[in-house]
Amino acid sequence: MPSSKIAGIGFYVPEKVVTNNDLTKVMDTSDEWIQERTGIKERRYAVKHKESSTTMGTAAARIAIERAGITPEDVDFIIFATLSPDYYFPGCGVLMQRELGIPGIGALDIRNQCSGFVYGLSIADQFVKSGMYKNILLVGAEFHSAGLDFSTRGRNVTVIFGDGAGAVVIQPTEEEGKGILSTHLHADGSYAEKLAYINPGCHGGVHLGTEKYDYPDQEYGGAFLTEKMYKDEDLFPNMEGQAVFKMAVQKFPEVIMEALAQNNYEATDIDMLVPHQANLRISQFVQKRLGLRDDQVWNNIQKYGNTTAASIPIALCEAWEAGKVKEGDLVCLAAFGSGFTWGSALIRF
Ligand code: UT7
Repeated sequence: MPSSKIAGIGFYVPEKVVTNNDLTKVMDTSDEWIQERTGIKERRYAVKHKESSTTMGTAAARIAIERAGITPEDVDFIIFATLSPDYYFPGCGVLMQRELGIPGIGALDIRNQCSGFVYGLSIADQFVKSGMYKNILLVGAEFHSAGLDFSTRGRNVTVIFGDGAGAVVIQPTEEEGKGILSTHLHADGSYAEKLAYINPGCHGGVHLGTEKYDYPDQEYGGAFLTEKMYKDEDLFPNMEGQAVFKMAVQKFPEVIMEALAQNNYEATDIDMLVPHQANLRISQFVQKRLGLRDDQVWNNIQKYGNTTAASIPIALCEAWEAGKVKEGDLVCLAAFGSGFTWGSALIRF
């Protein structure tokens, strides 16, 4: 049975840079607060009406495809991870397929938020190992700035997130001990509302009590988007930051150690850890806990903020472009986020 490997990687971030000081013009926040609590200095925002998760994902995909030495026509399956899709449905997978001009192949959308890329990588790995596909295009892309609350009320969420996309091409390899060594996926839905974008949706209040979601004027049909949601300003992502933080610093080390243990490695064997860029303080905590040096962990949240499903492929691509991830290196990817979901992948490049 072949293993699977990352054969090509690319990323795209929009040109528009938004600094912390830019955000102070629209909400009560400060450069000092944001840097101290998150490490973020600036992020990128996509241009409305010109860019979207699909267009950014496609731009990243084209680079990954070229670097894999293939053409779009060689791609035999698409996996697209995003929590900020262009449409409610259909998903971005088919929209990107259309942009790339490769109709007919399967296109799967993944809804696992910050862990979306690791979940997608695991799926791609299984498909390639089974011999079903030979050139899987896996993309993580986010257009967060389209859906954030830019008033002071939303500041704990809004200052963190940025837009961008990353992509990889996954191919089989017969090289012994090379490629994706293992992937590890987890979730605990009892924390679903701790970090969530609940409305618009079809839940009709079933999880959260009906009172808040009671629409006396319409028994059915209004659950997607109602005037009440606008009036209550209930159409934004929300997060219990401390609860997320607390769980993240527990689950990141746990799932990294799980991957290492399965492959008989120690934390110090890792050449490069690429954590999901949730918060610089979380990454630093994980680094310390695992006893890693600064040059063993890649952080770029300072420049891009948290780009959710895109953050790992963007960071991995940057590290690879900088020559910090080389042939033969042991690379660990790890993610934690909304769901809660978390996961890891250990790769011998
Ligand atoms: O990607 C996956 C998931 N996301 C994460 O992993 C995020 C995990 N959580 C975090 O990173 C942190 O919890 C945050 C960075 C979101 C928040 O930091 P914190 O140290 O946990 O702050 P807090 O929410 O406890 O708020 C402390 C204070 C509050 O004011 P009071 O009540 O003490 O007066 C907030 O209102 O900071 C205030 N605050 C802000 N002040 C200025 C919250 N957001 C901001 C802001 N600017 N942007």
